Amino acid sequence: MDLPRLENININGKRVLVRGDLDTDRFELTDYRLKSMVPTLDYLKEHGANIILMGHRGRPEGKVDEKLSLKPFGKVFEKWRVEILENLRFDPREEENDESFARELAAKGDVYVNEAFSTSHREHTSFVGVPKFLPHAAGLHFTKEVENLSRVLENPKKPVVAIISGVKQDKLTYIDGVKKFADKILIGGRLPEYIHDASPLRKDEKLVVGSLIVDKEDISMSTVEKFEAEIAKAGTVVVSGPVGKFEDAGHQQGTKRVFEAVVNSSAFKVAGGGETQEALAMLGLEEHIDWISVGGGAMLQFLASGTLPGIQALVN
Ligand code: 3PG
Repeated sequence: MDLPRLENININGKRVLVRGDLDTDRFELTDYRLKSMVPTLDYLKEHGANIILMGHRGRPEGKVDEKLSLKPFGKVFEKWRVEILENLRFDPREEENDESFARELAAKGDVYVNEAFSTSHREHTSFVGVPKFLPHAAGLHFTKEVENLSRVLENPKKPVVAIISGVKQDKLTYIDGVKKFADKILIGGRLPEYIHDASPLRKDEKLVVGSLIVDKEDISMSTVEKFEAEIAKAGTVVVSGPVGKFEDAGHQQGTKRVFEAVVNSSAFKVAGGGETQEALAMLGLEEHIDWISVGGGAMLQFLASGTLPGIQALVN
């Protein structure tokens, strides 16, 4: 995929409008999403650009909610002397992909850069509207996301094993797309609860639907062993979600065993999403994963469909 590259745009003295990855409550550069923006910010500064940062936090539903203000990021990014626009989702037009809002935002810059892979699965104004009106490029981390995740789709080492877990029921909607590239899909977390006994998913040979312990907060030991056996055979592993409530000391066992099996396999390993990244960090396993995506839903949607609305807006 040929993403337009930042290196091909003259940014010296230009106002560069960066769609940043600010959907976090941690106002420090150790945060995985904020850290991912640093190479692009450094590059822009070194090449004489004036940076205008825009992004969202949470789901304020088109209304001003001071608790979700982007003001606290001022301190975090002061080194780059950026101007930070207020939470785009305070304006209902952000989620409506509204042309008037796109023009208003575009008027604030000369060049547009997307450095928010994690939300590029949303057809929102700051992703698909603004680049229509400005010369545009993918951020440096964004480009690496696409390159690394594409390795799962283009000639991957087989078999490809995907672990789809966590608590968000809507993850099940990605299963059909994941089946296109994965040879086995291991389902853990709360998701087995949402697959009723008569569901065709229970009979699907590609799926291993885990069983849960009595309080439903972790997978059972027999499921741990089944997952470990599939992971040991894998050529490529994709991890989306912890398999249990890893933040409780009493419910870490499933996630620890399964994530350790991933790390110990010789597969190419990618993982994505906030909770997955937190669990890997807590277990001290982050550095053994080949690529950790900033996106949860965005990573799955990219793998399931080979692109995202925010990518299409850059390449068109
Ligand atoms: C995420 O946290 O996955 C992204 O920031 C997208 O947020 P959203 O699900 O509220 O669109």
